[in-house]
Amino acid sequence: MATLKEILFTSLTAAGLVAADGLNARAVAAGKKYFGTEISTIVMADSSANAIAKNSQDFGQYTCENEMKFDALEPSRGTFSYTSADKIVAQAQANGQIMRCHNLVWHSQVPSWVTNGKFDNATLISIMKNHIANVVGHYKGKCYAWDVVNEALNEDGSYRTSGSIWGSTIGPAFIPIAFAAAAAADPTAKLYYNDYNCDKPGSKATGAQNLIKMVKQYGAPIHGFGMQGHMTAGQVGSASQYVTNMRAFANLGVEVAFTELDISTPSSSPNFAQQATDYATIVSACKQVSACVGITTWGFTDKYTWISNSYPLIWDTSLQKKAAYNAILNAWGSSSTPTSLAAPTSTSQASSGNATGCTAAHYAQCGGQGYSGCTVCESPYTCKYSNDWYSQCL
Ligand SMILES: *[C@@H]1O[C@H](CO)[C@@H](O)[C@H](O)[C@H]1NC(C)=O
Ligand SMILES: *[C@@H]1O[C@H](CO)[C@@H](O)[C@H](O)[C@H]1NC(C)=O
Repeated sequence: MATLKEILFTSLTAAGLVAADGLNARAVAAGKKYFGTEISTIVMADSSANAIAKNSQDFGQYTCENEMKFDALEPSRGTFSYTSADKIVAQAQANGQIMRCHNLVWHSQVPSWVTNGKFDNATLISIMKNHIANVVGHYKGKCYAWDVVNEALNEDGSYRTSGSIWGSTIGPAFIPIAFAAAAAADPTAKLYYNDYNCDKPGSKATGAQNLIKMVKQYGAPIHGFGMQGHMTAGQVGSASQYVTNMRAFANLGVEVAFTELDISTPSSSPNFAQQATDYATIVSACKQVSACVGITTWGFTDKYTWISNSYPLIWDTSLQKKAAYNAILNAWGSSSTPTSLAAPTSTSQASSGNATGCTAAHYAQCGGQGYSGCTVCESPYTCKYSNDWYSQCL
């Protein structure tokens, strides 16, 4: 006689309703809005890679790699080119995935008609406002969030002027002016400041907090801070420092997200176990902070990464899941559906850890079903059982 579970499973399968599970499903079950990926029309043209990207159980959100940058959208003054970016937005909408839209004002990937135009302050402000009004207007209602300003800070936390047409011509005033223009064009999008090397507390993170205060003092809305999260395996360290950093931003009244996460390991001698542990550390940090709404990785397969000689992502160059996949699943915790109904997440990995040659950091995962990362904790921490899916270095 069939058990209730078997009957349920058979009928769910027959109805095409096999239980949801995946990187995004687990993030949502943990109370987050999404787990997402950066994508490009190049990846979309690779049908095997695109099949992975279209699976909304793994990815609930997309960011365009280059297709929404200034040079792509306004290649000549007043002429807007939306075809490539629209393809990505259409695929997201067809699969129920949300868009983080990226980005409006950045010193890089600006067309030469802007950088070489010798525009005065007032003219450059009008060019920037016109770009924002057109682009944000075109995608009005389709972007959960906009990265309004990208990378406006130097490493010491001061405002970037050198190499930035915006910072050198307009000065820091371009930042609040851009936020006000974006808010006028789409009052419902979450407006973010986005930068790198601000993942941990430090002078650049403090600079980003000062930037947020400055935008608010000007009277413009700012709703989020994006930590790009370009990291190196073995240098990620403990979750607690990311938690502390995110809480400092949350205390200013903004939400936070990891927006471009990738964790480099050299392709010549990759350490995928350490990488898996480090991905789990970041997921664990986001999970601990309610203001952290989600995580976006900068691509998902090592076949398409912007980093040379590195394997920083979650699927390998043959589009097979790496150890990082299960580490991320487990770090989010169990899915909302009964685990007995969950689809198998990977067949190519050992059912438990014992990766050698690495240690898991304080708060990182060190064991659990399907986990294949480091099982030895860094001194003085020990691996403590939390549930069948998750043991942690405490
Ligand atoms: C450019 O104009 C804006 C708006 O009037 C002003 O806030 C800013 O200080 C000016 N920048 C420079 C370098 O004069
Ligand atoms: C991992 O190591 C532990 C302790 O030595 C052992 O009990 C367990 O069976 C090992 N697991 C695998 C999958 O080798």
